[in-house]
Amino acid sequence: MKNQRVLTGITTSGTPHLGNYVGSVRPSVRFSRQPGVQSFYFLADYHALIKVGEPARVQRSTLEIAATWLACGLDPERVTFYRQSDIPEIPELSWLLTCVTGKGVLNRAHAYKASVDKNNAAGMDPDAGVTAGLFMYPVLMAADILMFNAHRVPVGRDQIQHIEMARDIASSFNHLYGEHFTLPEAETEEHVALLPGLDGRKMSKSYDNTIPLFVPREQLRKLIMGIVTDSRAPGEPKSTEGSALFQLYQAFASAEETAALAKAFADGIAWGDAKQTLFERLDQEITPMRELYNELMQNPAQIEKTLLAGADKARAIATPFTARLREAVGLRRLDSAVSSVATKQAKASAPAFKQYRESDGQFYFKLVDADGTLLLQSTGFASGKDAAQAIAQLQQQGAQALTALQERLAVQGDSEALASALSHFGAQAA
Ligand code: TRP
Repeated sequence: MKNQRVLTGITTSGTPHLGNYVGSVRPSVRFSRQPGVQSFYFLADYHALIKVGEPARVQRSTLEIAATWLACGLDPERVTFYRQSDIPEIPELSWLLTCVTGKGVLNRAHAYKASVDKNNAAGMDPDAGVTAGLFMYPVLMAADILMFNAHRVPVGRDQIQHIEMARDIASSFNHLYGEHFTLPEAETEEHVALLPGLDGRKMSKSYDNTIPLFVPREQLRKLIMGIVTDSRAPGEPKSTEGSALFQLYQAFASAEETAALAKAFADGIAWGDAKQTLFERLDQEITPMRELYNELMQNPAQIEKTLLAGADKARAIATPFTARLREAVGLRRLDSAVSSVATKQAKASAPAFKQYRESDGQFYFKLVDADGTLLLQSTGFASGKDAAQAIAQLQQQGAQALTALQERLAVQGDSEALASALSHFGAQAA
C-alpha cells in the first residue's frame, strides 16, 4: 500500500544485543527503505525511566541505541529519527489519552499483571513495587504511535497487546471527539521472538544471556564459544531442532548457508567447528557496522545534532496536530468564539443522516441529532443516488453546502445546532 506510515521505538534501558538487532533494528532499517513508506523511529527514553533509575545508564543507552540504528544503515534524511523526550507534545497527548482510557483496560496489561501475579504468589500487596509509570506504560506508548498516525508498528510479539490497546484508546478518543486518529496495526517478524540467548532461552537482558551486538571481535568469539550445546561428540549427528546455535545462525545466514549447516549437523560436525562457523558468519555481517558504530560513539555531538534535526521534523507534525487535538477536547482560547454548553453536548453525541423512501415513491433524507431532534429534512429526490449525493455534499462541505442545497431542503433546524452537527462530519472526513 502507498503512503504507509511505519513507526517504532526502542526503550533506552540497555546495550543493544543480537536479539534487538534481529528483532527490531534490522527489520526497521529494511522497512525504511521500502518505497511509499514514511518511517518514524525513535529512542523511547521516557519509557526507560519506568525501569531504570540510573541517569547515566539512560544517557549511555540513548547514545548506544542511536549509534546502533545509524551504524545499521538508518538514513536520517529519509526517515524521521528522534528522541521521544525532545517532543513535549507526546507527554501532553499521553494525558489526553489517559482521560479516555479505562483503568480496567490497564489492569489487564501483561507487564502490569505479571508484577501483580508475582506479588500475589509471594503473599505481598498486589501493587508492591509497582509504579504508576509501569501502570501507564501502554498509554504513553499509544501517544507515541497516535501522535504520528502510524498505520504499521513493527514490534516483538510481547508488544502486540500494547498496539491493541493503542487501537482501543484511539477508538475511544475518536468516538468522543471525532476521527482524529488512525487505528494502528502491529507487524511482527515470525522468527523474532524466538532468537535464543547463550543458554537457549529467549535472548533477553532479564535472563542475562545476551550477546551484545557490537562487542569487540574477540569477545564475540568467546561469547559464541560459550553457547550451550548438548554433549554429542564430534562425528555424532546433531539435531538442529532446539539448537540455539543453529537458530542464531539461521537468523543471519541465507537459506543456502542454513541448509549447508543443517547438512553439517547431520554429518556430525564438532560443536567447536559449528561455533566457529557461526562466529565467522556473524562477524562478517557485524564487522562493517561495528567500525561505523565505534566511529559514531566517538562523536556524540554529531549524534545529538542528528537527533535534534529529527525532533524538528517530528515537531513539524506534532505541534500543529496537538493544537488541533487541544481544540477538539476543549482546551481552547477564550478570545475565540465560546460555544454554549448545549451546542457542545450536541456535538459530543453523534448526529446521523437517515435516508428513506416515502409513499410518493420519492427519496428523502433527514439529519437528526442523538436525542432525535430534527435538524434538517430534504424535499423529495427522484433517485436514492441523488439523495445520497446531497448527503455526501453536506458531510464534506458542512454548513457551506446549505446554501447550494437550499431548494432541496424542506426543514432547517436551529442554525447553530445544525452547523455544529455538520462540522462533526467535516471532522470525520479530514
Ligand atoms: N515498548 C517498546 C519496547 O519496549 C518500545 C516502545 C515505546 C515502542 N514506544 C513505542 C515500540 C511505540 C513501538 C511503538 O520494545
